[in-house]
Amino acid sequence: MAFIKPTQPKGEPEVDLGRLPRHVAIIMDGNGRWAKRRGLPRTAGHAAGAETFRTIATYCKDIGLEYLTVYAFSTENWKRPLEEVSAIVGLLKKYLLESIEKMERDRIRLRFFGDLTPLPQELKELCGRTNEISKGYDGMQVNVCFNYGGRDEIIQAARAFAAACAAGERRPEELTEEMFGGYLYSAGIPDPDLVIRPSGEVRISNFLLWQSAYAEFYFTDVLWPDFSPEELRRALAAYQGRDRRYGGV
Ligand code: FPP
Repeated sequence: MAFIKPTQPKGEPEVDLGRLPRHVAIIMDGNGRWAKRRGLPRTAGHAAGAETFRTIATYCKDIGLEYLTVYAFSTENWKRPLEEVSAIVGLLKKYLLESIEKMERDRIRLRFFGDLTPLPQELKELCGRTNEISKGYDGMQVNVCFNYGGRDEIIQAARAFAAACAAGERRPEELTEEMFGGYLYSAGIPDPDLVIRPSGEVRISNFLLWQSAYAEFYFTDVLWPDFSPEELRRALAAYQGRDRRYGGV
């Protein structure tokens, strides 16, 4: 059995690589505060956050995680100043352009959760292309939630099911949890086992509401740009110490 030793002071928990969660989801929070503490504009916090995302995604791939889902932009984030919204959209584009080669090399699958229609045409095409290229790959799957909201996702799914019923393709009484899951952005992907929220906030903020029904949650005060592989190992070790009962005893 393989273990990784966190580079932590003695006594820190170890992570059993044979018992990793299949799917880890992260709310990348605290970029603004990280920047403020350094007297930098919030956009600098997002740039640092995008680097952290790259580091953490690479680490997850290295340890053999199957699915990583990150919350990059919520349906509520449009309320932010235009400059900040543009910066986040720009970072997504930069990240995709810089990652295509690596994704090919590591056979990373990329999927987007959210409504991409309001994005600039060029970025939409880039998202579509990276998604298409990676469909045939078999490496770690990264899901980027962009213009994503958990309630919005459920509403979209309910509408799609209702439309299928109206078209005579489905009947309301045949709807099961499993079938409903097939209408969500996450269709075909196992539910997250572990949801991590850094930055000291202890709430779900409309993230994977349906999918996280039985997830374990891990909260830390560390701000996202400071979130390191060591922090992730702490979260994984905490997860491995949990007793998941799914409503049983
Ligand atoms: C939350 O921190 C963070 C966001 C709303 C944006 C996250 C975006 C990135 C990490 C970069 C782009 C993404 C990719 C996939 C490359 P906050 O701004 O709410 O921080 P605060 O709570 O401290 O103000």
